[in-house]
This record gives sequence, C-alpha cells and structure tokens, in this order.
Amino acid sequence: MAVINTYTLKNKNNFELEVSTIGATILGLKVPNKYGDFINVVVGLNSALDYISEDYLENKLYLGATVGRYAGRISKKELIIASKKYIIHHENNIHLHGGENGFDKKTWVVESIEEGATTSQITLSYLSKHLEEGYPGNLKIFVTYTLTDKNSLKITYRATTDKTTIVNLTNHSYFNLNGEGSILNHELLINSDFYLEVDENLVPSGKLNSVEKTRFDYKLKKRIKNINFKGLDDTFVLNKSKLKAEITSEKSGVKMKVYTNQPAIVAYTPKKFKNLPFKENVKYADYPAICFETQHFPDAPSNKHFPSTELNPSETYLNETTFEFSIVKE
Ligand code: GLA
Repeated sequence: MAVINTYTLKNKNNFELEVSTIGATILGLKVPNKYGDFINVVVGLNSALDYISEDYLENKLYLGATVGRYAGRISKKELIIASKKYIIHHENNIHLHGGENGFDKKTWVVESIEEGATTSQITLSYLSKHLEEGYPGNLKIFVTYTLTDKNSLKITYRATTDKTTIVNLTNHSYFNLNGEGSILNHELLINSDFYLEVDENLVPSGKLNSVEKTRFDYKLKKRIKNINFKGLDDTFVLNKSKLKAEITSEKSGVKMKVYTNQPAIVAYTPKKFKNLPFKENVKYADYPAICFETQHFPDAPSNKHFPSTELNPSETYLNETTFEFSIVKE
C-alpha cells in the first residue's frame, strides 16, 4: 500500500493547513469565523487514506489536489509540440486534468518544511517522466504552500523541463466558508469581463464572450443564489486588476480574496457530493462548495490565440495564487 504522510502547519494566528504527500493535496484549512471558532473552509475527507479508496476515486472530485500536467480539458488526442507528435490519454473524447494518472494521484516528495514564529511553509516536489500520460519532457515540479502572517495561504508552483512541453497546474480545493451546508448563501465577485464559450463537452470554441447581461457577470458582488444561477463549471478570463475574486459568507463572517498571476479562473460548483466520509462528519447540502481553479485557459494547445502553455527548457514555469482570509466587519 502507498505510504502517505501528512503535515500540519500553523501561522502565528493559529490558522492551520494540513497537506498530504499523495497529490500534494490540501486536506484541510482552518480559519477563524466571526465568533473566533476555527472552521475548516476546504472540503476534505476524514483520513488521508480515504483519498485512495475506490469509492472516492470513482467520483473524480480531485478534492484539494494538485492537478496537472495540464489542468482542464484538451480536445485533441494528438499534440504537435516543437514539431513532434505526441499522443495523450483520452477518455470520452477529451483529455482531462492530466490524464488517467495525473499529478493528483502521485506520491510527492517533501523537500522542506519551515516553521517560523509567524509564517510556515512546506515544499513538495514531483518528477513527471518524459511521455508520462503522453507528454514530452522530464518535468520537475515544486509546489510550496505558505501560511503567511497576513492570514493567507499562498500556493507557488515552479517547474522546469528538458524538452519543450505544455504545463498548466492548479490546486483543486473546494471552498465553503461556513465549513458545512451550501455556498448558495455566499456572496461572490469575479473580476472578469469575458468567459470562454464552450460546447457540450465543455471544450472552448475559441471565442471569448462578454459577461455583460449574462449569468457570468460577477463584476459586482452578488449572492450566489439568484434566479440565474445554474451552477458553474466555466472559465473566467481575469481582468488586470490585482484582486481577481472574492467570496464572503455573512453567516460565518469569513471573507476570502483571491490573487493570482494566472490568466483565468475556472469556477466550479458541483450540484451535490456523494455521501463520502467528510472531515469531522460535516454535512453538505446542494451546491456544497466552489473551486477557484486559477490557471491557463483549457485547450490552449488547440487555440493559438489563447495565452501559450508551452514551457521550453530555458524557462521556469511560475504560478502563484494567494487566498487571503479576513473577517467581515458588521
Ligand atoms: C474541473 C472540471 C470539471 C470537473 C471537476 C472535477 O472543475 O472543469 O468538469 O472535472 O474539475 O470533478
């Protein structure tokens, strides 16, 4: 059986992050609510072992996991990279989240843990071999999770390759700022003027549509539960502003701001979760959580006008996302 190690980090305000070596997965993130009680704001399972159970894996939820080598969809089975052809894993006519055995299922190596008086961080790495899931190049990836003294969780990915390849990494944490129930009562803001038009397989057509007068307009903060809400599994093209997204729960008083150097957020709100052994046995209702998958656009290899996801041997891939927590003043 796989050896799984878990690590718990704290910052000076007792924010707590729990990480597992399988998928460099975030198992839990505890932050204070407006009453000073610590609540877990990311969906997690009771034990690290639950993440390798068949019951969990067949749901393909990627709870808190590192997704790669290419997060999101790729429509083509054959990729031409640096004039060479590569065949990538396809299922139901698409390549999703890095293929059959993506980074979420790999055992990551702990490189370092630093527990300072105010800030703590952990760095894990994974070597994805040339042609793993069909991708070219030996890709070495480092992920660093930092709990800062400003009450942020910062996620930094760095990667290098020995052959030109494509890379698009993200973390797949599902947030619920009440730690239970639903996110329908949360308020959401996304600084995005355009979303990607997609077909029935959620593959982008290549067109960027304006959010103006559509259900994708979150430029002004609005309650998630509104008459136009049908659930989200959509790519929001991010504006240049520093703040990219913000979500608040009046009930818990927890606010989370999202900052990133990535060009898009895939916002994903599943309708329901199957009955899984959730941490602390919490119960989730309809629309239990929301993912802010900060990343490049899906299917960029087929859309030359999308920002490129190619990485050359002379470059270092750098992806930085910060989730910053505070309490809403009443
Ligand atoms: C992403 C995808 C979804 C789904 C989830 C994981 O958000 O866009 O379609 O695959 O991951 O279940």
